[in-house]
Amino acid sequence: MEKLNIAFLASHGGSNMQSIIDAVKRGQLAANLVAVICNNSGSKALARAKSENIPSYHISNLTHSDPNEMDTAIVDILIKSRTDLVILAGYMKKIGDKTLHAFKNRILNIHPALLPKFGGKGMFGKRVHEAVLKSGDPVTGVTIHLIDEKYDNGPILAQEKVTVLENDTVDSLAERVLKKEHTLYVETIARIISGEILLPKT
Ligand code: GRF
Repeated sequence: MEKLNIAFLASHGGSNMQSIIDAVKRGQLAANLVAVICNNSGSKALARAKSENIPSYHISNLTHSDPNEMDTAIVDILIKSRTDLVILAGYMKKIGDKTLHAFKNRILNIHPALLPKFGGKGMFGKRVHEAVLKSGDPVTGVTIHLIDEKYDNGPILAQEKVTVLENDTVDSLAERVLKKEHTLYVETIARIISGEILLPKT
C-alpha cells in the first residue's frame, strides 16, 4: 500500500502534531511526513518539526504581507511536497481560498468540543472550555472534521466525548480534552488510511 503524504499547519505547541509524528515512528500510521508550515517562527511546533527532520516552513504576514500571496505560498509548498492530506494542528489562521480549493475535502481540523456546539469564530483555546463550564453541560469532547470556508463547519469525521467533572477548572478540562485529542487524531487518520473512513471525492 502506498504511504499517505501528510503535511501539517500549526501555530503553537504542536502537541497534536507530535502525537501523529510519534504514531508514524511507531509504525502505527503508514504515512510520510512531508511538511510543517507554521505562521509563528518561535513556536514549539516549528522546533519540533526541525528536531524531527521534517521540512519546515515559516509562512506568516511577516514573510507575506499580502494574504493572497500567503495563500499561494502555502498551496505551493503543499503541492511541491506531494501532500495527500493536510492536518491542521492548532493552526490559528483561516485557510485561504486557493489552498481550500486545491485541497478540498483533504484538510482536517481538530476542535476541543463537540461541534456544532462551542464552535465558530472566536471559539478557540481556553474560550471553548470556559464556555463549556459556563453552560453547565455534563459532557464535552473532541471533534475531527473536514474544513470548509466557514469556521468549524465542515463534515464531521469523528467525535469522542469527555465527561465534565464537578470540580473541573478550565485548565483541568483542557488537559483531559487535549489527551483525548492526541489519540482521536491518530485513530482517525488510521481509519482514513485503512479506507474505513472514505473522504468525499475532490
Ligand atoms: C488543540 O486544543 C486543538 O483542538 C486546537 O488547538 C489546540 C492545539 O494544541 N485546535 P497543540 O498545538 O496541538 O498542542
